[in-house]
Amino acid sequence: MNTNSAAASVVSTGHPEIDSQHGRLSDLTGRLGSICVLGEARPGHCLRCSAETRSSCTNRLADLIGELLGFMVTHFAYEEGLMRQLPPTEAGRMHMEAHKLAHAEISQRLSELTLKLDEESPLECSDWLQKIIGSWMGDHAEHHDVGLASELAKAYETEICYDVELARLLKQ
Ligand SMILES: [Fe+2]
Ligand SMILES: [Fe+2]
Repeated sequence: MNTNSAAASVVSTGHPEIDSQHGRLSDLTGRLGSICVLGEARPGHCLRCSAETRSSCTNRLADLIGELLGFMVTHFAYEEGLMRQLPPTEAGRMHMEAHKLAHAEISQRLSELTLKLDEESPLECSDWLQKIIGSWMGDHAEHHDVGLASELAKAYETEICYDVELARLLKQ
């Protein structure tokens, strides 16, 4: 029985929508661990399956990867939209540059890896993709997404302070 379908763990950023999207990405990544129609999780098992069974797993894997990468693109676009709302400071610009580059690098790496899907068994592919995406998501959230959420929270707090200050001035 497959025991490798646990969702990838991702640190909370404190931004509800980002965290909710990370939850979906994590669930989709977890599903990579249950790609085998027979419920196997050990790479190497595919060699014992018929070509028809392997092909069925490869199709399931291709559908899941399509869904996962599609949602990843949506998620990156969402975060990059939030980055454009950061105050136009040097720190904000540097954050945006590094964060966007990290999104572009993993997108490029995954596009290249998915070209190799036909060269390996579905279980091998789902196994290494799950490891790569799972560990990338954890690191990325910690080093970039948490910072984005905290910069947004600071900017929002500042906005509230500006509103309070404006109300105070209008009362005078
Ligand atoms: Fe990000
Ligand atoms: Fe993210």
